[in-house]
Amino acid sequence: MELQKTIALFLLFCYLISSTVANTEFCFTSACSKNEPLIRFPFRLRNFQSVDCGYPGFNLLCDASNETILRLPNKSGEFTVQAINYSTQEIWLNDPKDCLPQLLLKLNLSASPFSGIYYQDYTLFNCSVFYTMIKLNPIACLSGLNYTVYATSSMRGVSLLERPECKLIGTIAVPVQWPFYEQVMSSDLSGDILLTWANPYCKMCESRGGRCGLKRTMYTREIICENVRGSGFPKGAQYAIIVGAGVPAMLFFVGLLCFVCGRIRSYRRRAEPVLEFSSTVAPQPIELVGLDEPTIESYPKTILGESRRLPKPDDNICPICLSEYQPKETLRTIPECQHCFHADCIDEWLRLNASCPVCRNSPKCVHGTV
Ligand SMILES: *[C@@H]1O[C@H](CO)[C@@H](O)[C@H](O)[C@H]1NC(C)=O
Ligand SMILES: *[C@@H]1O[C@H](CO)[C@@H](O)[C@H](O)[C@H]1NC(C)=O
Repeated sequence: MELQKTIALFLLFCYLISSTVANTEFCFTSACSKNEPLIRFPFRLRNFQSVDCGYPGFNLLCDASNETILRLPNKSGEFTVQAINYSTQEIWLNDPKDCLPQLLLKLNLSASPFSGIYYQDYTLFNCSVFYTMIKLNPIACLSGLNYTVYATSSMRGVSLLERPECKLIGTIAVPVQWPFYEQVMSSDLSGDILLTWANPYCKMCESRGGRCGLKRTMYTREIICENVRGSGFPKGAQYAIIVGAGVPAMLFFVGLLCFVCGRIRSYRRRAEPVLEFSSTVAPQPIELVGLDEPTIESYPKTILGESRRLPKPDDNICPICLSEYQPKETLRTIPECQHCFHADCIDEWLRLNASCPVCRNSPKCVHGTV
């Protein structure tokens, strides 16, 4: 125990000195479902990816129908994320309730990291009549039985709708997808809106095949670029943004300490019984049904020679305690799947669990309960 603590403190000390542990390696790309946009830095799937995997203001959610949701501040509401282009820093949004104009009426991006690239002004009118004669396209989702709502971006449209039976709702700046070469007489404003973000600036990194991420040191968080194709990224190009961190940094250290302790414990498991293994691997309160001693003993045992030749020469690490097999150690192989472990490690496991810890989801290997 004393040794364990000393090693942990030493590692922590090394970390403080070097401060080179990048959090990005623990962040995986995720998505709400197969056809939804991929989510990675600066975006983060809240409740699934840690805070350090994203940038403030870029939290995403998955809704009940597995659509990707971005919640904008200032009561702007929730938008579905239709697409994200990481190398151009563009995001396409729409309304989960299929009434984008409803959201556009209260859209206020001032407190969000996003802004439009091209804006087009639309003037909205609420008319007590439905015009069938002229080519006006009503906004169906804002209209009712006795009134119809129209949006126009052209002078002609405005002059057409400025009439006694129409009430002016207001003019809104819509973040459109293309620069507008011509004004539209009327639009139902159902097309996706296009937004961009200036910070964190990852265009250069992403367009070179790199991945942006957060690197946390004791007092700062900075944006780093990793895995750039070719000969690496010049050091000077690591554009850093200091966000400042206090409590989050401490939380990270506690996490790191737990991680280090976990690794040491798993290393020591080689010599100790692996009783806690089942509880860490299977967090759900499942009923443990293990194998009986004669069945376990019937599985082939091998004592490793000096040459350390294994049944499967490519895996020379015990998947349970994660340490390398040494000469004279006793190994046991599960006959069904040929997976190999330290005998001490796998025996303890099999007493609690009747399946192979490596491939227990594979029906070929699971022996079922005894
Ligand atoms: C947008 O929200 C900010 C507060 O964050 C407020 O000061 C501003 O007036 C709002 N803009 C509009 C157009 O409502
Ligand atoms: C349009 O006017 C009707 C009443 O004439 C009102 O009930 C409705 O809320 C208005 N719609 C909008 C979007 O202003």
